[in-house]
Amino acid sequence: MEIIITSGYDEMSRRCARIIADEIKKKYDIVLGLATGGTPIGTYKELIRLHKEDGLDFSKVKSFNLDEYIGLSPLHKDSYNFFMWENLFKHVNINPGNVYVPQGDTNDPEEFCRWYEEQIKKAGGIDLQLLGIGGDGHIAFNEPGSSFASRTRVKALDKQTIEDNARFFEREEDVPRFAITMGIGTIMEARKILLIVNGEKKADVCARFIEGPVTSQITASALQLHNHATVILDKAAASKLARTEYYNWVRDNKHLVKKWIGR
Ligand code: F6R
Repeated sequence: MEIIITSGYDEMSRRCARIIADEIKKKYDIVLGLATGGTPIGTYKELIRLHKEDGLDFSKVKSFNLDEYIGLSPLHKDSYNFFMWENLFKHVNINPGNVYVPQGDTNDPEEFCRWYEEQIKKAGGIDLQLLGIGGDGHIAFNEPGSSFASRTRVKALDKQTIEDNARFFEREEDVPRFAITMGIGTIMEARKILLIVNGEKKADVCARFIEGPVTSQITASALQLHNHATVILDKAAASKLARTEYYNWVRDNKHLVKKWIGR
């Protein structure tokens, strides 16, 4: 895992957006995996700026969102589909036919999950997957104990996730108890993974998933087994890491590799 520590939320967001933009420029019909929540809002704002000011082109980009609450229709103001349109899609030139978000009000979630996996496969797989991390170490809604082999499926939300996400709803009782989520197995098949995280509240969980053992109790730790995963943290989220000095040295000296070749 490559660990990039940044000064704060804004730098984290800018760096993340720049990586995504560079990947879009390299492959104009890239398949992105996208996340919702508070963390990626700054990244999406920067991508919108890059679209408006630098002409970053989303016209051939395909996207698959990680998850959606069961019971909310795509137009519900608290749905992740609504979030994505408000915070990214409606501001860029993405083709609505290329946008996939799990359908929270499906009558047949199992069949839907099978169909979603099939669409990812048909698109050629996910090139770049953006992730946040929950306070309990989840990626997407893969709560502690989720199998590393899991595919898109229905998952019951953990008590901590319900409490954490209550800030987006009028009352805690309104937070749905179930979600459709890509599995760890689905996420791990992405060619590249980019996880962003900020804030002191997540410092403990960052130390555990980056430097602790690989365990299904902290599902983000599965990323230790991925061959192209990058984590961008702000200083506060990185404050409990033990190997900060090494990560910072690598971040600032990667360009020196060439100088060492053939010495
Ligand atoms: C959302 C998702 C979740 C969030 C995580 C962090 O699509 O998959 O795993 O990334 O719960 O949420 P925030 O960013 O609100 O702290």
